[in-house]
Amino acid sequence: MSERFYVTTPIYYVNAEPHIGHAYSTIVADVLNRFHMLSGMDTYFLTGTDEHGDKIALAAQASGRSPREYVDEVSRMFKDLWPRLNISYNQFIRTTDPDHQETVKLILSRVKEKGDIYFSEYEGLYCLGCERFYTERELVDGKCPDHQTEPQVIKEANYFFRMSAYQQWLIDHIHAHPGFIRPERYRNEVLSFLSEPLEDLCISRPKSRLTWGITLPFDDNFVTYVWFDALINYVSALGYPSGERFERYWPWVQHVIAKDILKPHGIYWPCMLKSAGIEPYRHLNVHGYWNVSRGKMSKSLGNVVRPLELVDVYGLDPFRYFLLRDMVFGLDSEFSEDALVARLNADLANDLGNLVSRSLTMVQKYFKGALPVPGPSRAPDDTLKKSALGLVDTYGELMQDMALHKALMAVWEVIAKVNKYIDEMAPWVLATSDRDRLSTVICHIFETLRIVAGLVWPFMPASAEKIQEQLGLSTRGKDMTLKNLKVWGAERPVRTITKAPPLFPRVDTVEDKGSAIPPTPGEKPSPRKDRGAASPGAPALITLEEFQKMDLRIGAITGAEPIPGSKKLMKLTVDMGEKRTVVAGLKGRYSEEDLIGKAVLLVANLKPTTLMGVESRGMVLAAGDRSGLHLLVPDTETVPGTRVK
Ligand code: MSP
Repeated sequence: MSERFYVTTPIYYVNAEPHIGHAYSTIVADVLNRFHMLSGMDTYFLTGTDEHGDKIALAAQASGRSPREYVDEVSRMFKDLWPRLNISYNQFIRTTDPDHQETVKLILSRVKEKGDIYFSEYEGLYCLGCERFYTERELVDGKCPDHQTEPQVIKEANYFFRMSAYQQWLIDHIHAHPGFIRPERYRNEVLSFLSEPLEDLCISRPKSRLTWGITLPFDDNFVTYVWFDALINYVSALGYPSGERFERYWPWVQHVIAKDILKPHGIYWPCMLKSAGIEPYRHLNVHGYWNVSRGKMSKSLGNVVRPLELVDVYGLDPFRYFLLRDMVFGLDSEFSEDALVARLNADLANDLGNLVSRSLTMVQKYFKGALPVPGPSRAPDDTLKKSALGLVDTYGELMQDMALHKALMAVWEVIAKVNKYIDEMAPWVLATSDRDRLSTVICHIFETLRIVAGLVWPFMPASAEKIQEQLGLSTRGKDMTLKNLKVWGAERPVRTITKAPPLFPRVDTVEDKGSAIPPTPGEKPSPRKDRGAASPGAPALITLEEFQKMDLRIGAITGAEPIPGSKKLMKLTVDMGEKRTVVAGLKGRYSEEDLIGKAVLLVANLKPTTLMGVESRGMVLAAGDRSGLHLLVPDTETVPGTRVK
């Protein structure tokens, strides 16, 4: 059987609007799905909404609407959001769908026939937020650890699922399949839970207390417990018990969830599947929590981060990239808009964006936009080729292991290598000295970029396709498979390469421009950092030798022009005995006329770097205070090139 891939997100409760936590899980599933498309697999991606139970009934009541009206409205908010985040799901399931309800009834009947459901009186500690009974042992200071509320004592007769009968089977299954629950910390958490006797699961609610649910097929007086109903979505969506899709995709299923719902997915669900005679899932992929200001995001705390507010300001792909790059899959992360801006400017605008634009410019400038035919390669070309081809394998392994941030880091390592290769090969010199060599170098840059764009696609589909388009490639998106990327030179441009607008324009820091997240009522608007505040901790001391490593010179500015597309940067020509180009963030503060003729202090031995497509060789020194930047200048006329001691 050829390999396939079936991925699911949690189906989200419709009692609150979507926030970045929901967006993260769904983007992770989307990235995995697209990665498996690149691997040439037949894939299926399911998401949806969880619409029954106490919580939803109460939320509907509070909004003054019928449950039906209410769930329709909130479910739509989720459904409308996903296309805006470029989520390529195949199916959106709702637990109020009639087909789903039928499958739930069928599974309940099967499990009952098997003798795994019994009726009993129960008194327990019930958390309304979690919609489940807690044991004393699970509570922290007598409170639900998630909701920080004291559970209510509820005594009632209910139906129970004989989960305890599957405890040993589940322990054995987890031991036999090390990747069943991953990362390992969550596998260990489940095993630790299973080291104590497992209690049976209460799977009904009397209609006297709750009517908003699926009626039990064997007792009209009860509705199904919301988790027993919800988990079944993963099979009902495929048309279980019959259905070509079930046969086709179920054997390949992987779930994506966060740690909050580990127990239902790591324990209830495998036991339910076993009892119903369905194969367990392949992998349960568990991620951590996005926190805001060291705490959980919640509507009542007013610290909910809404995805579209960020997307509107920073763009979709930077948002997707940031979420996937900044969270170590499995661990918690602290959300910060500053960190998003820093990633956008450094990794996207500077590293990737500039690389693409300088590369396109070179093909256009030196070869009128037609990619040349490479000549014989030399050692540095072979080294770059080896890194780029090796990346395809490394990336594939990291993605399979859910090390998504590491897969991105591996791509960015190669991006850094191409940037360095360009600096070292200096195509602008070859352009006049050695056209054959130039052709080879340009082809190696182009081919590495083709690989980078292909691998970036699952994370930033629109930007990757834009790069592929700018490279003149006819094969794009999911069609540019890993297999294709592994063949060096497999694709050549089908059209002339032209200059293109920047992919990721730089943005100002949050400090400079204010937050994209509107303040919640009662909150102070856009907290800005106090620029004048003393920074804690003085800088480390350096030795005289360390200071002497710096080549400081006097330079005379002989040319100054703004860099198109940049709010701050200017391209300066500085004479220091020889002329060189230096990029400086002086726009807005100094005009071209102010600058030309000025003598400045220059760090002359700084490694060259490329900013907005312009290579900068050196740094002009300036002091910045509350009133802005002040260039440091010699107090009397000094010969350009003079060393500063
Ligand atoms: N309806 C259940 C899931 C049933 S699945 C059969 C539910 N819904 S939920 O709306 O509360 O969604 C929980 C999920 O949303 C988490 O498991 C996670 O995927 C995502 N997240 C919600 N808040 C989150 C963070 N703060 N951080 C990361 N993900 C979070 O539980």
